[in-house]
Amino acid sequence: MAKNNENELMEKVVSLAKRRGFVYPSSEIYGGFASAYTYGPYGTELKNNIKGLWWKMFVQEREDIVGLDGPILLNPKVWEASGHTKSFNDALVDCKECKARFRADQLIEDATGKDLEGDIEAMNKELTKKNAVNCPECGKSNWTNARYITGMFKTEMNGFTGDVYLRPETAGAIFVEYKQVLDSMRVRVPFGIAQIGKAFRNEIVTGNFIFRVREFEQMEIEYFIHPKTKWEPLFEKWLKQQESFAMALGAKKKDLRRYEHPKKKLSHYSKKTVDLEYNFPFKFTELFGLAHRSDFDLTSHQKASGADLSFKDPITGENYLPHVLEPTFGLDRSILVALSAAYTEEKVGDETRTVMKFPKNLAPIKVAVFPLLKNKPKLVKKAREIFDSLKSDYMCEFDDNGNIGKRYRRQDEIGTPLCVTVDFDTLDDDTVTVRDRDTMKQTRVKIKELKDYIKKN
Ligand code: GAP
Repeated sequence: MAKNNENELMEKVVSLAKRRGFVYPSSEIYGGFASAYTYGPYGTELKNNIKGLWWKMFVQEREDIVGLDGPILLNPKVWEASGHTKSFNDALVDCKECKARFRADQLIEDATGKDLEGDIEAMNKELTKKNAVNCPECGKSNWTNARYITGMFKTEMNGFTGDVYLRPETAGAIFVEYKQVLDSMRVRVPFGIAQIGKAFRNEIVTGNFIFRVREFEQMEIEYFIHPKTKWEPLFEKWLKQQESFAMALGAKKKDLRRYEHPKKKLSHYSKKTVDLEYNFPFKFTELFGLAHRSDFDLTSHQKASGADLSFKDPITGENYLPHVLEPTFGLDRSILVALSAAYTEEKVGDETRTVMKFPKNLAPIKVAVFPLLKNKPKLVKKAREIFDSLKSDYMCEFDDNGNIGKRYRRQDEIGTPLCVTVDFDTLDDDTVTVRDRDTMKQTRVKIKELKDYIKKN
């Protein structure tokens, strides 16, 4: 679909996602809850395929990266050492008139173009200027003082005294287990540790569907390098790999761009941070991130825990704390890219067909199998046989409901690359019709060659 009306595209994606079992608003029977979403049956398949693709690209096909699956609840000392307990904060402000709540820096930036993130005094000055920042909800300009609140989710744990937190990023577990990986695996710098999992942030404002939520998934890598490595080429290589992954989700190159964080806004430990931005239906904004985190995390954890986290090179004998490059990928934002890039409306005769043109390896259902008529037992039996022969290799769907045209439309809407129809000719010559999602071309294929055909298409 031409992106001439961006919000319209977003509305269509959200509506299709709900209607066709990709993403549901959570707890809807109770009126919903806090912008939480549930991945429905097709959304879960899509999500698993994206995770699988990421794992294949960054773990399976690489000899220098190993995987990990750490807990959500970590010793709170982890977050003290990493600085999260103290400084994982956002500035919040309320409209005194209508009680709407905003992240102060974003509110001010939207209204004035000024980027005041991290400078609460400047934010409060801006908010008190007459009509400099008007409330997007009620239009008035009557604000409370901006104040910092933590983005950490607190919880309690039996048998433990003190606050426990749900992890705000997956990276924490990687640094904490880095030593155990060194001790148990044959890894040598440069090497990486990858992890996929949930992260929780008590965001002040959520929104844009699954773009900003409080419970989400990240796919992160900590890539350990020698402190004296010429890291710039490696940094560029990682950015390119992040771009390749975005394009494997269906993103077009023209819809990707880089945003380098200005030096003055970099965290004290970061040498360079670049966001990979995507042209989402609502705006061009952060999809993934890449940061050079120096030896900040290992130094902090070494200091706080007393454990020796240095790497002893088995060949050179050198002993040092590695530096780290951190490519981070949001899984929910990846799903939003896949959904919005795939959404297509096409004129077919007098009708408009909606088709999700996912990259074929990401499609939730790979093959749909139809008997031409559901009241012809011989056709149904044959179609079942074909379905049964494919289902161990592919996620398949059997559909005998409604006319074939309707069944094609249903599969188009969930992005199924191939539909196989068993008709009366099949009973005579053991061939089926295979219809392609994108070209709508129909090809007659011998049943015994069907698996090969599916593999190639
Ligand atoms: N360990 C580094 C880190 O967590 P980040 O930029 O704060 O960096 C990484 O988050 C990625 O996680 C983002 O690029 C984005 O894709 C995703 N992400 C962050 N906050 C999110 C939220 N509230 N909802 C959905 N995805 C989020």
